[in-house]
Amino acid sequence: MNPCISRQLLTLCLVFSRLISVCYGRMNPQFKVKAVNLGGWLVTEGWIKPSLFDGIPNKDLLDGTGMQLKSVTTGKFLCAESGGGTIIVANRSAASGWETFPLWRINENTFNFKVFNGQFVGLDTQGNGIDVVATATVPGASETFQIVRKSDDLSRFRIKAPNGFFLQAKSEVLVTADYEGDGGWGDDDPSVFVFQSSGGLQGEYQVTNGYGPDKAPQVMKEHWSTFIVEDDVKFIASNGLNAVRIPVGWWIAQDPTPPKPFVGGSLQALDNAFRWAEKYKVLVIIDLHAAPGSQNGWEHSATRDGSQEWGKTDANIAQTVAVIDFLAARYANSPSLYAVELINEPRAPGATLDSLNKYYSAGYQAVRKYSSEVYVVMSNRVGDGTDAREFFSLTNGLTGTVIDVHYYNLYSDVFNNMTVQQNIDFIYTNRSQQLSYVTTSNGPLSFVGEWVAEWQVQGATKEDYQRFAQAQLDVWSRATFGWAYWTLKNVNNHWSLEWMIQNGYITL
Ligand SMILES: *[C@@H]1O[C@H](CO)[C@@H](O)[C@H](O)[C@H]1NC(C)=O
Ligand SMILES: *[C@@H]1O[C@H](CO)[C@@H](O)[C@H](O)[C@H]1NC(C)=O
Ligand SMILES: *[C@@H]1O[C@H](CO)[C@@H](O)[C@H](O)[C@H]1NC(C)=O
Repeated sequence: MNPCISRQLLTLCLVFSRLISVCYGRMNPQFKVKAVNLGGWLVTEGWIKPSLFDGIPNKDLLDGTGMQLKSVTTGKFLCAESGGGTIIVANRSAASGWETFPLWRINENTFNFKVFNGQFVGLDTQGNGIDVVATATVPGASETFQIVRKSDDLSRFRIKAPNGFFLQAKSEVLVTADYEGDGGWGDDDPSVFVFQSSGGLQGEYQVTNGYGPDKAPQVMKEHWSTFIVEDDVKFIASNGLNAVRIPVGWWIAQDPTPPKPFVGGSLQALDNAFRWAEKYKVLVIIDLHAAPGSQNGWEHSATRDGSQEWGKTDANIAQTVAVIDFLAARYANSPSLYAVELINEPRAPGATLDSLNKYYSAGYQAVRKYSSEVYVVMSNRVGDGTDAREFFSLTNGLTGTVIDVHYYNLYSDVFNNMTVQQNIDFIYTNRSQQLSYVTTSNGPLSFVGEWVAEWQVQGATKEDYQRFAQAQLDVWSRATFGWAYWTLKNVNNHWSLEWMIQNGYITL
């Protein structure tokens, strides 16, 4: 997004952008961002906009859905014995990890079934060819099944194996792919299983693979061009905010032809965001929310099935640095580019301190290749056993670094029975202490990059919400880089800053 069109103008233009950014507040120690996240836009999160999934056939069978199957004849759940690596049995009376088969979707009817230890269900091609086992580490033809649902009771499944026969539970300890008949879906038919889901994911992988290569590009293009529009940036600029944090996925760097199932077009949307941001003098924090392989196993990092592979190899880290390099190169000359966040919420212990130190060093240098002024944001790890200052030795000696912390009065039993006042006190005492701990005079700047005026309190009044939001604004104002609300738009009202502002819950 270099607005300069000729070489002659380049120097002048660069000087001009620097002046604008100084006015915007870049590298001005007094300046703080009051930002909102544009969540659920360029990285899908189904709970933010459930209707995005409405047009997907078999939309309860997406990648990562935890399929559990109870045999109607044994009355027991299918189970990958030992969690995988050996036979499939039908002898478990309750379903948990070994009885859950995360789906890999090939198309609306065709799937691979993953097991707890990571192998895939398939036919025992080394043996008699009909016993059902979980030994393949990569799914191939022998691990590809069709799900046939009873038309008037979608929870009744029959599973067609690649040899053309249906799976059956011959006994509690023998599951085979040799059922020929069409037993008519009754409770005496050993090929009938009752499906239940242990839960699913609704991220970018699920929505794009769910629609498939023919429909996904159109659906996503429609979403990107309508969910956030120029008027939203105008709204942001005129309601006391000065910045946006924009989550993006790693595939944006390969636009317009990212690896499947991801589809091209999010780069165009980000270009638009920069154009609008420049027009309304709003700053942009680009946030790599979904890194290749998934840095936390959650849907908002575009995991396929809940697995977390990011950072396990140097090649993966290098690929991630290349994404940062791409984004920094493209937007460094925009006066609106204020910060680049290298990765969002890497989760311990899978995302190790070692791989993050490597990545953060290289990612920092990638940004500095194009700009000496853009801030580089490093997200603290989430998960147990982490120290909020664990990246301080890395940032020591680097200029323009920021530590991002996310504070929700949610996602922990600690908040289960808290009253309104206890929630508010928690902000003024506990969060305040935590924020002080990461806010030092000679360390990186501190950034509360995600927070929301939502809690586990039932039946709270508007005034309760106003007090809770105000408490957070009071405390977060001490963060030296600033804060960002999660998020601008959301079907859940309190999670939508737009709704909160329009309805008088939050005034900035
Ligand atoms: C299920 O069957 C397998 C294979 O025979 C056996 O090892 C296992 O103990 C059985 N589990 C239960 C709960 O019956
Ligand atoms: C929280 O409240 C629920 C009922 O609302 C109760 O069952 C539970 O014991 C309470 N937990 C604590 C830690 O007080
Ligand atoms: C919050 O801080 C108070 C005061 O330091 C402390 O007693 C309490 O245990 C903290 N609560 C939690 C849930 O950490």
